[in-house]
Amino acid sequence: MKNRILTGITTSGTPHLGNYFGAIKPSLELAKKSSDSFFFLADYHSIIKVNNPQEVTSSIENIALAWLSSGLDTKNSYFYKQSDIREILELSWVLHCVTAKGLMNRAHAYKALKENNSDDKGVNMGLFSYPILMSADILMFNSTHVPVGPDQLQHLEMTRDIALRFNHIFGDTFEIPEAVINNDDPIPGIDGRKMSKSYNNVIPLLCDEKTLKKSIMKIVTNSLEPGVPKDHTNCNVFSLYINFASDKEIEEFKDDYANGISWGDAKNKLFDKANETLLPIREKYFDLREQKDLVNDHLSDGAKKVRPLAREFIEVIRSKIGIS
Ligand code: ADP
Ligand code: TRP
Repeated sequence: MKNRILTGITTSGTPHLGNYFGAIKPSLELAKKSSDSFFFLADYHSIIKVNNPQEVTSSIENIALAWLSSGLDTKNSYFYKQSDIREILELSWVLHCVTAKGLMNRAHAYKALKENNSDDKGVNMGLFSYPILMSADILMFNSTHVPVGPDQLQHLEMTRDIALRFNHIFGDTFEIPEAVINNDDPIPGIDGRKMSKSYNNVIPLLCDEKTLKKSIMKIVTNSLEPGVPKDHTNCNVFSLYINFASDKEIEEFKDDYANGISWGDAKNKLFDKANETLLPIREKYFDLREQKDLVNDHLSDGAKKVRPLAREFIEVIRSKIGIS
């Protein structure tokens, strides 16, 4: 069977190491083995939380540059902005009408805000039904594999439920997609919670060496003194290090912990590895961001390639539901 991968990143804030290790890097690796790959900027998702147009616009630019600097080949993939493909919103409505409200009640993002909040204060309808928009993103292109971080697993399960429901009512239409999750645990942020644009705890992917070092030095640790053996499990510095290091380096770092490495030295080791890995991405980013219109040109070429596929499939869907 054809293997079609698809993933998106919400265009709020700055791309960070969680996005890179959770979505960008595994997607680019999978793309090499897949027949088709779709990478997009989820800009309609961002307005659920962000009401600042400048932030959305600059995030679109930076997230696009994150993909391009990390090695995305736009000639051999579909790279586009969600908002350029209007049919996605049309499909989202159709899917709303086959989705049980109870399914959305169970979505983590909604449940977290709903806790101790019987009036649903601060919950807009975009947040409540956002897994349906995400399903439309995925089902519109009949993707088979969706590389995402572990926080998105529930949304993929919901997408499968929604697709099965539609297929059951209207006949076989959608492929049932699978999540591809690289790490069981999310990449931790500097405060130890999941690294996220929403928590202000990120280590940016695209920054100069000084900013990278400053962010790494801010990682929260315990107060054990140098010389005191330290536990590498449940340690934010260690959890980040393993993403950059070889098996041998990871074993050596474990020994350093057992031998009482100081937190300053541990963070410096993390910085050196991270800096080495991120250097080529950073250099490409500094070069690409100087090229005026580069991002817009890539995205408008992408929209031209993707729109015909969406137009053709939405006609099939409309005729299935009796609107043609
Ligand atoms: P954020 O939580 O910062 O808003 P997004 O929700 O836009 O990030 O996530 C885009 C992609 O990056 C998704 O596949 C998501 O699972 C992945 N991702 C985000 N944060 C992390 C993390 N800390 N660890 C692993 N993957 C992550
Ligand atoms: N909801 C995802 C997130 O916030 C981003 C996203 C939107 C996405 N649509 C998608 C990811 C489709 C994968 C496939 O992380």
